[in-house]
Amino acid sequence: MRLLLVGAGGRENAMAWKFSQESGVEEVICAPGNAGMAMATNGKFGSRLRTRCVMVDSGDPAALLALAVREGVDFTIVGPELPLSLGVSDRFAEAGRPLFGPLQAAARLESSKAFSKEFMARHQIPTAQFRVCHNTDDAINACEAFGFPVVVKADGLAAGKGVTVAPDRQTAKAAVYEAMVDGRFGDAGTALVIEECLVGPEVSFFVVCDGRQGMVLPAAQDYKRVFDDDAGPNTGGMGAFAPSPLCSESLVDRVTREVVTPVLEGLRAEGTEYRGVLYVGLMLTPAGPKVIEFNVRFGDPEAQVVLPMVHTELTPVLLAAAKGDLNGIQWRVGSDPHVAVVVASGGYPGAYKTGFSIEGLAEAAALPDVLVFHAGSVLRNGVAVTSGGRVLTVVGRGQTFPEAIDAAYTGVGLISFPDKYYRTDIGQKALACQTTITGGEDA
Ligand code: AMP
Ligand code: GLY
Repeated sequence: MRLLLVGAGGRENAMAWKFSQESGVEEVICAPGNAGMAMATNGKFGSRLRTRCVMVDSGDPAALLALAVREGVDFTIVGPELPLSLGVSDRFAEAGRPLFGPLQAAARLESSKAFSKEFMARHQIPTAQFRVCHNTDDAINACEAFGFPVVVKADGLAAGKGVTVAPDRQTAKAAVYEAMVDGRFGDAGTALVIEECLVGPEVSFFVVCDGRQGMVLPAAQDYKRVFDDDAGPNTGGMGAFAPSPLCSESLVDRVTREVVTPVLEGLRAEGTEYRGVLYVGLMLTPAGPKVIEFNVRFGDPEAQVVLPMVHTELTPVLLAAAKGDLNGIQWRVGSDPHVAVVVASGGYPGAYKTGFSIEGLAEAAALPDVLVFHAGSVLRNGVAVTSGGRVLTVVGRGQTFPEAIDAAYTGVGLISFPDKYYRTDIGQKALACQTTITGGEDA
């Protein structure tokens, strides 16, 4: 089978790594990919890795379809949300080409927070109280009505930067004006969702769905803030771990019953089917789990910890989901702790420099329990150089979280480039949860 993998981040490098080792896969064509996919080496890929990068814009559905036709692609898998929100699945469906990722109408679960919240309200899916607002007066009145802290969210896609958790009136007002008057998020901010502020730990759930049912992957936890101890501004994600010690079997059952099934049934009742991976961002509040957001793709960097936990082949599962029939499909998923540390360019998520060559990649990848995935890197004269804010994800695996943390940071320590930055506390939350849980059982 010839695969087309759409995207260029750490998530897509992890997907390429997984798919290219599978028996039915002849080649993974990455559009556009990054240095990790172009080099096709992380010391473990061996001779079976067959990836090739093609410079096609992942945000151009027509160009992606043309590429799939030209290359005789059998199955296309989409990493990021942008092409899905632009209708790449609809285009491939019209052309009769199998693709993993929801149709544009279903992708609104991520591309419009107003749609997503109103959908949850229509189908009694637990989430924060909210109001959708179309002008500043309305938005500020809604903030006052909820009281402070309050959450201000741009309706559309804003690269993870469209949410402000405002501790006071002044911050909330500033967020409303920035979005609606200054146009900080362009059209994505012409409508705002104002929400009650919930409190509790957050867990990311990934469910591979065929429209009627889903298969659940191990839950992960990610680190959105740039600095240790969750300080500083939000980023695309600075690290992650899985499986989440907060996620019991009964929680999985509850989320399936209260969230996943109503989403699939609700969408079907409204005339569309959800085929793809549903990412449920949950907050575990004292009043039960509530949905913070839906995404219509794997998380980044969560995919980098979750995909290595799938011990059987994943492409047949994704293909069955894309074709609308997961009946009889099985996989084997492990439970060994995995920890991902994002290595970023200093200054990210603000301004940063690029173009530095990255040293020590092969040494890190040669460690037995370490995987190195690229994100913001390009190959220049055969050498990987930095090209983005999040440059690499280094994943460690262990039988325990301390071992996985140690493996990841040993890998990170072998890699160098000027201005290299990473958080030093990734995975510690897993230890804290485990202590709490053990303490509870002992008591
Ligand atoms: P989102 O982009 O919707 O995931 O929001 C980004 C982050 O903002 C989330 O991961 C939460 O930490 C926080 N957040 C979003 N909505 C709420 C809410 N209603 N209450 C508290 N925190 C929230
Ligand atoms: N790690 C958060 C996201 O992928 O949206």
